[in-house]
Amino acid sequence: MRVLITGANSGIGKEAAVKYAENNYEVIMLCRNRKKGESAKEEIIKKTGNENLSLIICDMSSQKSIRSAVDTIKSQYDSIDVLINNAANFDLTISEAVKTAEGFEQIWATNHLGSYLLSHLLVDLLKKGDRKRIINICSKGILAFPFIKINYDDPGFFRSSKYSVVKAYYQSKLAQEMTTVSLSEKLKDSQITVSAIKIPAVKVDASRLPDISKFKLKIYKMKMKHALEPSRMAETYFWLGNSEDAKMMNGKIIDENNKEVKFVSAVNNIENRKKLVELSNTQIGLS
Ligand SMILES: NC(=O)c1ccc[n+]([C@@H]2O[C@H](COP(=O)([O-])OP(=O)(O)OC[C@H]3O[C@@H](n4cnc5c(N)ncnc54)[C@H](OP(=O)(O)O)[C@@H]3O)[C@@H](O)[C@H]2O)c1
Repeated sequence: MRVLITGANSGIGKEAAVKYAENNYEVIMLCRNRKKGESAKEEIIKKTGNENLSLIICDMSSQKSIRSAVDTIKSQYDSIDVLINNAANFDLTISEAVKTAEGFEQIWATNHLGSYLLSHLLVDLLKKGDRKRIINICSKGILAFPFIKINYDDPGFFRSSKYSVVKAYYQSKLAQEMTTVSLSEKLKDSQITVSAIKIPAVKVDASRLPDISKFKLKIYKMKMKHALEPSRMAETYFWLGNSEDAKMMNGKIIDENNKEVKFVSAVNNIENRKKLVELSNTQIGLS
């Protein structure tokens, strides 16, 4: 069995890699930073005794990098069982929209377009896998924005003076919720299960705490006191990718207790979902 995890060098992604490795999966870690990726890989091998781990470098904000990583993957593997679109950018230090070399806002490029492209490019390998699962990672924090919508005309908020990382992040997570439904419908004849997890507050490594004001950092640390351990969240990543029962979650979103929960209301509108598919296909160059 083989799992591919993006952003597997840190936090929940790393703990998910440990969990799958402990259960004898071969783990492909897709990370943007070779040093951090190698160090996490060595740590996971040491901890689990499973040497069947490989590291492929990929910047999820760059479609060029994703296409190149997929070429490498296809040259080395003929099937993948589980794809976990875990990597995400939530850089709270940014105050203005940052454009990638390909012209997209970096949070939209990483958290939505990157995983959207990767999922599409790996469908052939997933079809050949035994498990046939795609897992998208969303956020419970979106519940604070019940009426959130995609800014279809300007998803990077370049023409809007109201850019904020929080807005960009939750828009990208809404797009992940919507993609879970639309991709599961698109792939219905392939037996690929597309599901999502609404992640509650989960502890992050101290080294990743943002360089923000002392006041904001204090609030952030207070919130983190009651947060789950990443290893606890990795249990759900494993259940959704590995268990037979999880097949029932096709086109659905679950919480940390493996229970189905509601999508944000915008997801239930078919016209919204169609518009997002059209926009995303255009932005990744898919006809
Ligand atoms: N922690 C929470 O409370 C929480 C709550 C809701 C949702 N989530 C979601 O859960 C998932 C995991 O979060 P986490 O808490 O484990 O965060 P984390 O420790 O910050 O890990 C994020 C991972 O994504 C990688 N990444 C970011 N941008 C990338 C890019 N352009 N290309 C490739 N990799 C990139 C990071 O790599 P680098 O190490 O190179 O930066 C890192 O490995 C994310 O999707 C996040 O949105 C987390």
